[in-house]
Amino acid sequence: MDFTKLSHKYQTPLYVYDFDYIREQFSCVKEAFRARKSLVCYAVKANSNLSVLKHLAALGAGCDCVSVGEIKRALFAGVAKYKIIFSGVGKNDSEIEFALKEDILMLNVESEAELKRVEKIAQILKTIARISIRVNPNVDAKTHPYISTGLKKNKFGVDIDTAKKLYIYCKNSPFLEPVGIHCHIGSQILDVAPYSEATAVTAELLRSLKALEIDIKFFDVGGGLGIRYKDEVTIEPYNFAQAVLANLAGMDVTIVCELGRFLVGNSGYLLTKVLYEKQNGAKRFVIVDAAMNDLIRPSLYNAYHEIEVVDKNGGGTLADVVGPVCESGDFLAKEVMLPPLENGDLLVVKSAGAYCFSMSSNYNSRPRVAEVAIEDGKERLIRRREKFEDLIELEREYLGEQ
Ligand code: LLP
Repeated sequence: MDFTKLSHKYQTPLYVYDFDYIREQFSCVKEAFRARKSLVCYAVKANSNLSVLKHLAALGAGCDCVSVGEIKRALFAGVAKYKIIFSGVGKNDSEIEFALKEDILMLNVESEAELKRVEKIAQILKTIARISIRVNPNVDAKTHPYISTGLKKNKFGVDIDTAKKLYIYCKNSPFLEPVGIHCHIGSQILDVAPYSEATAVTAELLRSLKALEIDIKFFDVGGGLGIRYKDEVTIEPYNFAQAVLANLAGMDVTIVCELGRFLVGNSGYLLTKVLYEKQNGAKRFVIVDAAMNDLIRPSLYNAYHEIEVVDKNGGGTLADVVGPVCESGDFLAKEVMLPPLENGDLLVVKSAGAYCFSMSSNYNSRPRVAEVAIEDGKERLIRRREKFEDLIELEREYLGEQ
């Protein structure tokens, strides 16, 4: 990839995504579940750019959405309604209503109170809501506490006994149809054992539901497959699939997975230019034009993103790579070896395809950056850089009212 050319053409900071890589990752997952009917519902929150969604939809992906905004994005990008699922711990009435009217595949319900709300709204709309219950299997995914979701102490899902009760409730309601079981234990998971444990728990529930003549068609194993940021040993999709399928012998269900990071994480690069170097006492800082508002993962989770210098030899001395935002927490990397740098040098922040642009903000009134896709050796803009006018658009008309 010619990062220098891209930085000249589109300026920096700039997100670049390799669409061929996304295609390969998607095929890997489909291949791993080849022996079964499967539906890969891309977790839109990882990277919700419309062109990314359209690209995945063309490959056959569905979408896992957590807001009406995400459902609308998926529909707008051409994702089939019957491949869209709606997850999330706090759906409001208008979101539930929207999902039911659009007749999407199913709603992943996370509590008894929510189930009753969905029932009520389905009744008002004179429709039947297809339901999947999110089970919290109380399994430790051994990942960062902020992105671990399958433990009793987390806010997500319901325990197995409650789940069973809710399925029976669904079966007896004229407005609810139980069609799926859902479980998502966390993100950036590197160990296959928690998947085995969690699916063993949910598969047992599946069997007991069959015995009650509750016909579950979709077994949703969530997402969470980790990727390599530095030197992590990741789970092969084949082993992930085997861990799931081993628990499902003899069960005729479609496997659903909600992968985000695995599909797009390592497709992405954030290009940023060096503004200045500065030495504060013993500490060396490289100040770049991207900041925590563009990529918050290092500040928020202390996440590591490899940084490569374009067209300069490695070596050098340790430095923190920091942005222009007025916070000490504004850094992209800490204590990394970098050669002497000067204004205009180009750096590439890697593994920036998932939870990077989608978590960006306008903090410090910084316009969000442009996004570019590379496919079959050709590049194209998929989101233009925001302008100052975009930032004030929703406020300017109110200035005259005082
Ligand atoms: N399904 C559900 C219900 C989820 O909550 C998530 C992610 C996924 C699927 C997709 O997980 P993935 O395959 O991408 O690991 N901002 C954090 C990650 C938050 C993940 C939230 N839920 C980060 O930057 O690491």
